[in-house]
Amino acid sequence: MRITIDEIKAMKQRKEKIPMLTAYDYITAKIIDEVGVPLILVGDSLGMVMLGYDSTIPVTMDEMIHHTKAVARGAKKALIVADMPFMTYHIDISDALYNAARLIQEGGAQAVKPEGGEAIAEMVRRLVDCGIPVMPHMGLTPQSLYQLGGFKAQGKTPETAQKMFKDAQILEQAGAFSIVLECVPAPLSKLIAETVSIPIIGIGAGPDCDGQVQVVSDMLGLYTDIVPKHAKQYARLAEEIKNAVTAYVTEVKSNTFPTMKHSYTMDESILESLEG
Ligand code: KIV
Repeated sequence: MRITIDEIKAMKQRKEKIPMLTAYDYITAKIIDEVGVPLILVGDSLGMVMLGYDSTIPVTMDEMIHHTKAVARGAKKALIVADMPFMTYHIDISDALYNAARLIQEGGAQAVKPEGGEAIAEMVRRLVDCGIPVMPHMGLTPQSLYQLGGFKAQGKTPETAQKMFKDAQILEQAGAFSIVLECVPAPLSKLIAETVSIPIIGIGAGPDCDGQVQVVSDMLGLYTDIVPKHAKQYARLAEEIKNAVTAYVTEVKSNTFPTMKHSYTMDESILESLEG
């Protein structure tokens, strides 16, 4: 049985911290799901960590759907949230409804994540009215990279802190089931998490959020082009992979791989008949 949004909300009520991780492919999603992570995000970070773009801005709906489908095949229990890519929900609400429906219907996600605060509240309401759970993303919103002028913490001035505090409440009223806060000062996230009744999932937003999300390639030490301050490496898979590839290349060159253990045999008489 797949985790429901009510179960995610109940975790906050029980003060049980909510772990969330990104995944972009079948095998990673399957492993994360088997561990019991309740929320999986198919983040548009896939543009950077899987596709090698230098931001999330080039990511398309078709790319999101391709990866969401793979994750949905791998994760059978976690609630899957898919990012709505850049400019797929701003032109008008019918566009947003159409694209969110594609992520649910074609991709197999159970919820969507657009970026924004009050500006997307009406759209959130319409999506929720149509039965689509929404987890908006505030703070450092990477799709607004050019507007923000870089990947940096948000909500540090009285005006921006006040706006984020108000916007979280507006999004809750609009029907969001949870909110992601990225790179937000810890005391502000704490205040927001204490004020709204829906779970606040932080990334670089301090320990007092109701849950935490990490980019899986960051926490596995697999993507090392940029290592954000908020990312903790629980493994160093890039180094592990380099060691394994180096060992493989050495063995192929020295002809110590493959041995007969990795080879197939055949009936000698068939071989003899060929030679004869
Ligand atoms: O795209 C993503 O992975 C995200 C997380 C950083 C929250 O939005």
